[in-house]
Amino acid sequence: MSTRHESAHLHVSGRALYTDDISLPSNTLHAAFGLSSIAHGRIRTLNIGPVQSFPGVFAVASAADVPGENNYGSAVPDDPIFAPGLVEYVGAPIFAVAADQYITARKAAQLAQVDYEPLPAILDIRAALAANATVLPPQRLLRGRPHEMLAEAPHRLKGTVHVGGQDHLYLEGQIAIAVPQEDGAMLIHSSTQHPSEVQQIVAHALSKHANQITVQCRRMGGGFGGKETQPALIAAAAAVLAHKTGRPIKLRLDRDTDMVMTGKRHDFLADYEVGFDSSGRIMALSVMLASRCGYSADLSGPVNDRAMMHLDNAYFLENVEIVSHRCKTHTVSNTAFRGFGGPQGMVVIEQIVDSIARALGMDPLAVRRRNFYGTHARNVTPYGQIVEDNLVHLIVDRLVESSHYRERRRQIAEWNATEPPVRRGIALTPVKFGISFTATLFNQAGALIHVYTDGTVLLNHGGTEMGQGLFTKVAQVVATELGLPLAAIRVSATDTSKVPNTSATAASASSDLNGKAAQAAAQTIRERLTQFACEAYSVTATEVTFKDGQVFIGSQQMSFAELVQQAYRARISLSSTGYYRTPKIEYDKSTLRGRPFFYYAYGAAVSEVAVDTLTGETRLLRVDILHDAGRPLNAAIDLGQVEGGFLQGVGWLTSEELWWNERGELRTHAPSTYKIPTARDWPPQWRVELLEGRPNSEDTIYRSKAVGEPPLMLAISTLLAIRDAIASCGSARALPDLVAPATPEAVLRCIENINAGTIVYQAALVGEEAGL
Ligand code: MTE
Ligand code: HPA
Ligand code: MOS
Repeated sequence: MSTRHESAHLHVSGRALYTDDISLPSNTLHAAFGLSSIAHGRIRTLNIGPVQSFPGVFAVASAADVPGENNYGSAVPDDPIFAPGLVEYVGAPIFAVAADQYITARKAAQLAQVDYEPLPAILDIRAALAANATVLPPQRLLRGRPHEMLAEAPHRLKGTVHVGGQDHLYLEGQIAIAVPQEDGAMLIHSSTQHPSEVQQIVAHALSKHANQITVQCRRMGGGFGGKETQPALIAAAAAVLAHKTGRPIKLRLDRDTDMVMTGKRHDFLADYEVGFDSSGRIMALSVMLASRCGYSADLSGPVNDRAMMHLDNAYFLENVEIVSHRCKTHTVSNTAFRGFGGPQGMVVIEQIVDSIARALGMDPLAVRRRNFYGTHARNVTPYGQIVEDNLVHLIVDRLVESSHYRERRRQIAEWNATEPPVRRGIALTPVKFGISFTATLFNQAGALIHVYTDGTVLLNHGGTEMGQGLFTKVAQVVATELGLPLAAIRVSATDTSKVPNTSATAASASSDLNGKAAQAAAQTIRERLTQFACEAYSVTATEVTFKDGQVFIGSQQMSFAELVQQAYRARISLSSTGYYRTPKIEYDKSTLRGRPFFYYAYGAAVSEVAVDTLTGETRLLRVDILHDAGRPLNAAIDLGQVEGGFLQGVGWLTSEELWWNERGELRTHAPSTYKIPTARDWPPQWRVELLEGRPNSEDTIYRSKAVGEPPLMLAISTLLAIRDAIASCGSARALPDLVAPATPEAVLRCIENINAGTIVYQAALVGEEAGL
């Protein structure tokens, strides 16, 4: 069903209510944070006198004002709400100030006098590795005999892959409103993917019980993973000030503060050695994977686990070792971002495969195919999960045909052979992405459905809406189950007082989880109504059907509303909860073994680019995508996810560069210096399609597949197409040392290196054919 987004009319007319648009009680105060200006140091003295005496200021809260736990860490309690005396990044919150006006609070926040004792700061991954600074212990994934097989391999290649981080740049920044209620209770409006965690953390911070805190979110203006853990900080600080003043507090970060203060995608580096045969088959791989976690753990454990478990992507790695270091740096604590470490893992193997092909003088696609997971053999992942429904071959075969990959590759080679200043490049990359939270316990969901006597339905479930279309999809499920038009279903704000103990809306699994939970609730109501109809009209259950807002009972027909009214009069309950937990998954996170994922989602993309070798500018000329969404719940929304995810990935890999100076200050902290893609970066030629005729082989909601994150990784094809164009500037078998993001500067540097004949990539072909 390709219905439009349930809020589309509100989005386009500017009437959709975001947290900032909620009407405030007249006594509301506005808050702003005071931030650390140094990367690492002790606070000797904090003088907030000038802040407090600024006209319009009502209160200031710092660590000492937190009645309960001064912490918002989700997995590990290492994230102070207000710095307790030690600051560990530029932008760490030290205090928050509440004033009558937003601008007053911001001005006052600048006036604190902080005397620091500076400590040495570790600012990047290499420095952290050298100092052995980590936020969590390393992890190791091992299969087979990688080191022996490396020694035996006829070809070996060593290198380093660098991939940058990414700011979420959600259009709506972080925001929370805390409204004190009677008897110590607190209502929180939060732009959050995880209302239950905000509830818990606010309760702990205020030393209250969960049943005293209610968190609501109707929608976010984008989350992309940036609102999985970070909103708890904003909400907790607002709640502490609300508690202190007894007045409602609104705390909204301006864009620059948001970018400086809140966590981003982890940047990674990977030192690898790969052994392969002359056909391009990978015989052994050893990877040292290291990521910048920032000053605290946040979600870095599961993010790095997912990176390890996606380093295989679509390839069978028989002998493999991946050692993962979770590096501690004195920079902002990095967090979830669309793909959750998966994209970083995949970039590593895709670059390795590309280098193998270049080293052997082969088409990278041929090397990819040589290494794909099989459908019956060679189909077990390094972590032990069997790849059961492998669609990679089917998708890649179809895409090669529909995109005319071979023909275009030949034409591009001919074009480049004339050595034009604008080179072209093409690449096809696949995606295989595991669906489920790797922490098995999060794979559960609840829903609550009320049917009113006029036959309308109010639906609530544990998921949150961030633009991805979850509310639309879950409403479609309920409409389908009750045989109602979609217009009869209204989805209300996510609310911890309606569905408790919810998981974050994340891991792309929310329509799988909440769709099934809502289906269960709707089925309960349908069964009650059916049973009532059977008794009232002396028919059997098979004679009762719900369709198009009508109910057919034997030879009778009435509106859904009519049956509901009759049932109400007969005292039948018209409200129900529903619950779902994902079957089949089991996984031991200490050994990284088991079946973490219910199933995989697949896709593939072909990108063609032009690279101006004089300026380093790149342009995406054409993209062809074939993506697997199972039997789509809503093909229109899914195509939107594929297109948006792809372009967000292109931004990550080509233009979005996070740059910290030697003092640990983020200098790219606004859209003026941090370049996200816009509609104009969409290629002039494109064909985006969903794979047809392949419903999910697992029993998901209507056999659909999750679609939120996997398409982001299709953008790796763009990075490798740029690499392909640059490679044409060098001698045969040259290996471009292209880093991501491939900004014009990075592209020019790479071209210079390749022109100079040096392979600064540190990738050196060793073994019997060394010196090729
Ligand atoms: N799409 C939009 N428009 N806005 C978003 O913030 N977040 C992405 C993806 N698609 C996001 C989005 C991320 S990171 C995830 S995990 C999924 O949506 C979450 O929603 P789902 O589980 O319903 O797919
Ligand atoms: N994906 C996204 N978010 C998460 C996960 C995951 O696997 N685990 C915990 N939060
Ligand atoms: Mo998405 S990174 O799992 O919020």
